[in-house]
Amino acid sequence: MRIAVLYDPSDNLLPHGERRRKECPAVPVRRRKRERRSKLDREHVLDAIRANGHDPFFHELGGEQALFALPKSGAELVFNMTEAYEGDDLKEAHVAAFLDLLDLRYTGAGPYSLFLAQDKSLAKKLFNFHGIRTPNFATVTRGKVEHMDDLGFPLIVKPASEDGSVGIDAGAVVKTVRELMERVSWVQERFDCAALIEEYIEGREIYVGVLGNEKPEALPPVELDLSRLPKDMPRIAGREVKWDKGSEAYDVTRSEVAEGLTGDLKKRLQETALEVYDALKLRDYGRVDMRVTPKNEIFVIEANPNPWLAPEAELAIAAQNAGRDYEKLIGEIVTMAVARYF
Ligand SMILES: Nc1ncnc2c1ncn2[C@@H]1O[C@H](COP(=O)(O)OP(=O)(O)O)[C@@H](O)[C@H]1O
Ligand SMILES: [Mg+2]
Repeated sequence: MRIAVLYDPSDNLLPHGERRRKECPAVPVRRRKRERRSKLDREHVLDAIRANGHDPFFHELGGEQALFALPKSGAELVFNMTEAYEGDDLKEAHVAAFLDLLDLRYTGAGPYSLFLAQDKSLAKKLFNFHGIRTPNFATVTRGKVEHMDDLGFPLIVKPASEDGSVGIDAGAVVKTVRELMERVSWVQERFDCAALIEEYIEGREIYVGVLGNEKPEALPPVELDLSRLPKDMPRIAGREVKWDKGSEAYDVTRSEVAEGLTGDLKKRLQETALEVYDALKLRDYGRVDMRVTPKNEIFVIEANPNPWLAPEAELAIAAQNAGRDYEKLIGEIVTMAVARYF
C-alpha cells in the first residue's frame, strides 16, 4: 500500500511538541535553539511502515501547494503525523478535517477529538460530565473568568491550548495569590489562549496508552519518575524535563513501565484511560496522562490523541511491554486505520 507520512515542517527543527503558536507580537516568546535529533519520529515511522511491507513516502505539509498536492500524491493511506499547520498548532484539527473532505483515509484521531483534546478546559468539562476525575480548575481569558471551581493552593497555571509543556516550567506551580496573579498574566502575555488554573496534584505521574477502536485495549501503565528532580523544582514534567537535553532535570527523569502498582490500581488506571478514550472518541491510538495521589486517587491531567510515536516514547514502551515491538505497533496502527474505511 502507498502510504504518505504526513508531517508539518515545524517538526524539522523543533523537538516534538514545541511549536509556534500565534504569540502576542508585543511579547515574542524566545525560542530555544536545539540540536536536530539524530533521527526524527517520522523517519522511525517511515522505516517501520516499510518493514511492514508497505510503500511509504514523506509528504511535507508546508502550505497551500502541499495541501493541494496531497490528493494527487497517490497515497492510499495518510499516516497523519501533523500537529500543526503552518506552525499554528490550533490548526491540528483542521488538517484532519481537510483529509476528511478529500475522502482520504488517515491514521489516528478525527477533527472532533483533536479539537476537544486541544482545548484542555473543554476536555475537562467533558470529563466531569462523564464522572472522570480531573483536578478542579478555573479558566481565565484576558482577565475574564470563564469557569471557576473552588480552588485550594498549591495550583498550577498553564496555557489552556498548548502541549509539549510549552508554557509549563518550574514557575508554573504557585503557592500564593501573588504568584498566581503574576503567572496568569505571564501566560496571557505570551500565549494567545486562556490561562488554565488547576489544583496541583502531588503524586506519581502515570501514562496509559490505548490502542484500538471497537474494543480498545489499555496498555500497561508507564511512569515518568520525577522523584530525582532537583529539590527546588516542582515535581512536574515541565519544559526542562521534556526538552532541556543536558540539564539535570532532563537527565534524572525517565519513563518506564510503572512498578509496584497494585492489581486494583493498575486496573483502575486502565479503566480510566479507556473512559477518556471513549469520551473524546479517540481512534487507533492515544495516551492518557494521569496523576496518582499517595491515597491512590486517580486524576486525569490530559488526553493525547495521536501521541508521540518515537520508539522511546511512552506509548512504544508500553506496547513493547505488551508484546508488540515498534514495527508491530506501527503496523497495527496502519491496519486499524485501513479497517475503518471498509
Ligand atoms: N493539575 C496538575 N497537578 C500536578 N501536575 C500537573 C498538573 N497539570 C499538569 N501537571 C504537570 O505538568 C505536566 C504537563 O502538563 P500537561 O497539561 O500534560 O501539558 P502538556 O499538554 O504541555 O503536556 C504534566 O505532565 C504534569 O507533570
Ligand atoms: Mg502532557
